[in-house]
Amino acid sequence: MARVTAGAAPDTEALSAFADIVGSAHVLTENETTAGYCIDWTGRFSGQSPAVVRPRTTQEVSELLRVCVEHGVHVVPQGGNTGLVGGSVPLHGEVVMSLRRMTTIDAVDPLSHQVTVEAGATLADLHTTAAQAGLAFGVDLAARDSCTIGGMVATNAGGIHVLRHGSMRQQIVGLETVLSDGRVLRHLAGLHKDNTGYDLDRLMCGSEGTLGVITRVRVQLVPALGHIATAMIGLDDVAEAVGLLAHLRQTVPSLLAAEAIMASAMDVVRHCQGLEPPVPASALWLLVEAASSTTDPVDELAEGLMSWRDDLDVAVATDGPGSERLWRFRETITESISQLGVPHKLDVTLPAATLAAFNAAVGDVIAERAPDARTVVFGHLGDGNLHVNVLGAVDDDDIDGAVLKLVADHGGSISAEHGIGTAKSAWLHLSRTTAELATFRALRAALDPAGILNPHVLAP
Ligand code: FAD
Ligand code: MLT
Ligand code: ZN
Repeated sequence: MARVTAGAAPDTEALSAFADIVGSAHVLTENETTAGYCIDWTGRFSGQSPAVVRPRTTQEVSELLRVCVEHGVHVVPQGGNTGLVGGSVPLHGEVVMSLRRMTTIDAVDPLSHQVTVEAGATLADLHTTAAQAGLAFGVDLAARDSCTIGGMVATNAGGIHVLRHGSMRQQIVGLETVLSDGRVLRHLAGLHKDNTGYDLDRLMCGSEGTLGVITRVRVQLVPALGHIATAMIGLDDVAEAVGLLAHLRQTVPSLLAAEAIMASAMDVVRHCQGLEPPVPASALWLLVEAASSTTDPVDELAEGLMSWRDDLDVAVATDGPGSERLWRFRETITESISQLGVPHKLDVTLPAATLAAFNAAVGDVIAERAPDARTVVFGHLGDGNLHVNVLGAVDDDDIDGAVLKLVADHGGSISAEHGIGTAKSAWLHLSRTTAELATFRALRAALDPAGILNPHVLAP
């Protein structure tokens, strides 16, 4: 049952308490300064906020939350505001707490290969720090210049290297989180073996700002993979791509990424970027990358591909610029779609066994309900993760209901990596049982009894 009550607007006393804590320069109340925090990256979700507060320290986060509880003010935690499910913007007049000033990245520990990062540091900055230490961070995604480590933990972000390194949940070895009553959960020792009760760090991961505000994250870094080989393969059948991928997993231990660009997505890239793929295909282009810290993986990748079928259409790159040229087809899809309109995004996972059948059906399911809409599909094939994008005027509930029901009927999950946000909360029952949803709400009530943290997100 929904437990959301209306949030109060911060009164003069609360606004002045905010200013005492962070300084008046970091309490934004004018429309022209708050506007950018109130609309999401796609332009699909927008609202208004009476105040954007910008803490610099964990202590300030804690004090701000105490004031919010005292005044019944609802809060939307925000990082880089690149989330794609309407969870990072104030759709119901909430205060926005932006973590973007908390950007410190500590020195990399040379013995454990771990580093502690403040929540507002960007993914790109963490990549740079790791590279300077001769290491790498295991998660990468196209929003790297803007998305923050705190936001990535809050959404359990995935991206292009999940098949090798896992998602954010697998990189975390410690977390610092502030509960809504201001208490700080600090667990940053980074011990790999620590069987001392509940795993609160991983509970926070994927909680989308509903259980606490993440302020610091300790992550495990991975070896830098300096030798790479990238291949783009043109295919005429999605089922063949799924089979080829299973074969590559078995034969290419250095496999790092496996991404699918369906014909509908390549059309968008052709149109918006003026790029022409190096090999022909009628159904999809599979972009695969192998990488190693010690040896050149090109022979292993070539043998893996040849042993599947020796007449595949393949373009290969073995140096940085060549690889970047191939990745441009994949990395520019999201921005190209947005050039054509405000997209309706459905990020889903399918089991390998039903992915091709789902892909064959989803276009018709959308066309039946919105004949003028354009459906664009691509995704992280290595994880069974498809991104279904719908452009044009659509009835959101009708399309969501139909596509997400189709996902559930094919044994999939209604969210692979973007989370639930406000966009999918009405459909969460398709992937989670009544008992699970009741447990979600019990956890929420225990950790945020005043119900002030992102109350409309996930399972309200
Ligand atoms: P925000 O958008 O600010 O917030 C996201 C959610 O986390 C909100 O619910 C918010 O309340 C909460 N939150 C933010 N910071 C905190 C905090 N410190 N404490 C508690 N809660 C917090 N996602 C993928 O998984 N894989 C991809 O490949 C991928 N590619 C993308 C490409 C593009 C071009 C874009 C625009 C987005 C992409 N995304 C992808 C989505 C997005 O980048 C991720 O969801 C990312 O993790 C969001 O980080 P953020 O800092 O922008 O969070
Ligand atoms: C991606 O994989 O590029 C992202 O998740 C962004 C999107 O879905 O558009
Ligand atoms: Zn993605």
